[in-house]
Amino acid sequence: MTTTESHTVQAPTGSSFPPGFAWGAATAAYQIEGAVAEGGRTPSIWDTFSHTPGKVLDGDTGDTAVDHYHRFREDVRLMAELGLTSYRFSLSWPRIQPTGRGPAVERGLDFYRALVDELLDHGITPVATLYHWDLPQHLEDLGGWPARDTAARFADYAALAAEALGDRVGIWTTLNEPWCSAFLGYGSGVHAPGRTDPADALRAAHHLNLGHGLAVGALRSALPSSARTAISLNLHQIRPLTTDPADREAARRIDAVGNRVFTGPILGGAYPEDLLADTAHLVDWDSLVQPGDPAEISRPIDLLGINYYTPTVVSSAENAKDLPRHDGHGASEASPWPGAEDVAFHLAPGERTAMGWPIDPSGLTDLLLDVHRAHPGLPMLVTENGAAFEDAVGPDGAVDDPERISYLHGHLAAVARAVEAGADVRGYYLWSLMDNFEWAYGYGKRFGAVHIDYRTLARTPKASARWYAEVIRRGGLPQ
Ligand code: NOJ
Repeated sequence: MTTTESHTVQAPTGSSFPPGFAWGAATAAYQIEGAVAEGGRTPSIWDTFSHTPGKVLDGDTGDTAVDHYHRFREDVRLMAELGLTSYRFSLSWPRIQPTGRGPAVERGLDFYRALVDELLDHGITPVATLYHWDLPQHLEDLGGWPARDTAARFADYAALAAEALGDRVGIWTTLNEPWCSAFLGYGSGVHAPGRTDPADALRAAHHLNLGHGLAVGALRSALPSSARTAISLNLHQIRPLTTDPADREAARRIDAVGNRVFTGPILGGAYPEDLLADTAHLVDWDSLVQPGDPAEISRPIDLLGINYYTPTVVSSAENAKDLPRHDGHGASEASPWPGAEDVAFHLAPGERTAMGWPIDPSGLTDLLLDVHRAHPGLPMLVTENGAAFEDAVGPDGAVDDPERISYLHGHLAAVARAVEAGADVRGYYLWSLMDNFEWAYGYGKRFGAVHIDYRTLARTPKASARWYAEVIRRGGLPQ
């Protein structure tokens, strides 16, 4: 979404969370489970990538992660102590379908059946994400997301998962942040599988869209009519550095290849003309998008998941000549922005998190309101929001993390402001329940409300966890 003026309204009451609002936390399979060779699981692209020297900081891998696979009962207990009403997690595709095709592995499904039963026993509503970046390596060997067949394989997997878990999971998200899968995975190569070809990145984006649509169809066929389907997008809240037309043009390009490449076909039934024009020199869209694809991709969904961390400030390269730059998304020579390589990225002023990401809650209000205006009638969930900080364990073992509390407070108030201005937001999922494997950054970046001691794997709720528990208990922010 591109914002050129602020929509932010004044004076939140802090209590504008609708009845039934989901107070959640989120995780993802590869970031927490570990047990990578148990129960018949085979490697995903993230196993291969993290075991490739130089790809992940300090050579960290998800081999053990936080051992959630063996400790899920303890983790659900922690969620219950927090008072979470909902928990968003992802299913590991190679745990359920090791080669990415063929029948499901019952032991893989059993893990998720047990997890979901434990959640339900504690009154916590499960939200399952089918794909949080762990493509079976076998499918990558056959071409990965740039290959059209992967979309069909994803729909088969969705059907298997829904048939097995549809009696107990009522909210299903197809993909998490397909922008990262396509453009960091196949464009800049900072994420698995680490490929750097702009045309493949665009092909991957189309096949992720197609996989999403086919999966929505498969879910609809397998699930009861009460089930709800969704996708989680990391929509970029884009701010041109100045009102100069060249900076506005930079914002338009990033909006095209950062946002509308997904929202266009998924919510509007077509790729935006300007995206097709910007990238025509890279791919032949006419042969990539086959007849029937737009109808598949735009199957109606019930909820839109939005992941938000920080706004995206852009200018033309020319207007950035003398300014400090920000590399966008991780250090790579290759760009994750096909068709927009000459756009420059900047850091908004002010405080930053340990990721170096500027803290700006107004971006979340603006994003929710922009989406609400563009797609009225589509309820939203904030499926991720949170921050990494350099948490220190005190001599008494306690973790005091006032910066995280302030980040969460600011962003929950931002959600409340959007709700007060009319946005239909049904829930908020803190990223993350606990510290975990932060992809190319390994275990150095801690996003959790619960601290993990990586030597002992002991879980310790941080002060922010207690603060969030209090917010949930009151159903709103302290004044
Ligand atoms: C988005 C991703 O979905 C999640 O896996 C990641 O850990 C967070 N952002 C923080 O970078």
